[in-house]
Amino acid sequence: MTARVVVLVSGTGTLLQALLDASDHDFDIVAVISDQPDALALERAQGAGVATAVLAPSSCASRDDWDLALADLVGAHNPDLIVCAGFMRVLGPGFLSEFPDRIINSHPALLPSFPGAHGVRDAIAYGVGVTGCTVHVVDGGVDTGPILAQRAVEVLQGDDESSLHERIKVEERLLLVDIVRRLSVGGIRITGRRVTFT
Ligand code: GAR
Repeated sequence: MTARVVVLVSGTGTLLQALLDASDHDFDIVAVISDQPDALALERAQGAGVATAVLAPSSCASRDDWDLALADLVGAHNPDLIVCAGFMRVLGPGFLSEFPDRIINSHPALLPSFPGAHGVRDAIAYGVGVTGCTVHVVDGGVDTGPILAQRAVEVLQGDDESSLHERIKVEERLLLVDIVRRLSVGGIRITGRRVTFT
């Protein structure tokens, strides 16, 4: 059976594009939802004939209302898997409780180092020689959920945030497609923080 995948985005959407390009009999991107009305990722989805929706935080009376409205929007597509691909908002309990262990996120650093919105900038500022990307299960914290897979990327002399982020995203796209495919054809067991693919 083809897994139904909903992707949450906020920006450019190159990770989304990699997923759109890779979708096949294992998984199908059934909807793309953004918190930003002008996200380029929405155009990518529309170009691929995928349903889109926008849920701006300002359209809801409270943070909790936004979580519940997002859960409704996503749930309407009966997803097997929800992928945060460049989605820059923290999901609250009203959303997370609807889809336990079915939400994953891609982050541009080797967690638990450099969580948050500026993982690439923070890694450069710290002076690390190696950083990378992490795909993890989403829990109630900021980039704290159990790790599914990681890839390392060397920081080069003269790198700035943009050049390093572009090289990280090359690895990130490959990693995310691989993990979405693995979760589409199999499952996971989470024991403490450790994840086993089943
Ligand atoms: C990716 O590097 C993703 O890990 C990052 O935004 C980029 C999106 O790229 N997400 C975060 O930093 C979330 N904390 P894209 O818009 O080209 O897919």
